[in-house]
Amino acid sequence: MSDQLRLYLSRQASTLPRYVGEQLLQSCFGWVPGLIGIGLRAIAYRAMMRMNGIVAIEDGVRIRFADNVRLGRGVYLDHGVYLHACPGGISIGDGSLVMKNAILHVYNFRNLPHSHITIGQRSLIGESCILRGQGGITIGDDVYLGTLVQVLAVNHVFHDTTRPISMQGITAQGITIGDGSWIGSGAIILDGVAIGKHVVIGAGAVVTKDVPDYCVAVGNPARVVRNLRTDPLPLEQLTMPVY
Ligand SMILES: CC(C)(COP(=O)(O)OP(=O)(O)OC[C@H]1O[C@@H](n2cnc3c(N)ncnc32)[C@H](O)[C@@H]1OP(=O)(O)O)[C@@H](O)C(=O)NCCC(=O)NCCS
Repeated sequence: MSDQLRLYLSRQASTLPRYVGEQLLQSCFGWVPGLIGIGLRAIAYRAMMRMNGIVAIEDGVRIRFADNVRLGRGVYLDHGVYLHACPGGISIGDGSLVMKNAILHVYNFRNLPHSHITIGQRSLIGESCILRGQGGITIGDDVYLGTLVQVLAVNHVFHDTTRPISMQGITAQGITIGDGSWIGSGAIILDGVAIGKHVVIGAGAVVTKDVPDYCVAVGNPARVVRNLRTDPLPLEQLTMPVY
């Protein structure tokens, strides 16, 4: 087997037999549309990954390293979702939804010790979000990520000007997002950041530093503009209907 083929396969599945099995299952059942397809995949995909109870997987979902994926009861994976679960793995808790074209990639090709992507219960990963879990990403319960959010638990080392950045290695500390938080669309969360619980991150923010519990942070770089506990927004000030 050529080195390039070996490299390709090592990026797709844990072993060659698993590669064959996972590809076969996804080729046979991955394209079937509608409820019939969801039903078939809920049964057939149990042969390649751990699922607690009924899981709804739409057609066109692509899964790599399925042995490192764990899906809780009632998880929904929308069309075009891509789960790439190198060692460290991807775990999605009960009732969480991953919407169209979201990409969850653990990206652990360097034996990184803390790589993983863990999502709690009833959380939502919006359309076209990108999560890169080299340093580990932990998202709590009841967290909402808007569309196009990027959670990037990695940085390249670039200090040595005599070598290309691509050859200097990476750092990967990890990112956490606390229970009940809401990350606005287009926000980018950088490595090493801890976002507390019940935090609001404004649309388009670039979050470079920790955000404490109950705070609203906006802008690039994101700055805290309100603490919802010490400077609360009274509900009666809401002039718009709440649905
Ligand atoms: C942050 C947000 C929730 C508003 O919170 P808020 O507490 O009502 O904020 P306010 O409207 O009172 O604004 C507070 C300040 O932050 C600024 N601000 C609000 N949102 C901002 C944003 N996304 N980026 C930069 N600045 C922002 C306001 O201009 C205001 O600045 P000022 O005090 O200088 O006038 C809202 O602006 C937002 O970004 N929502 C995300 C929407 C979204 O992504 N929806 C789809 C996903 S589910």
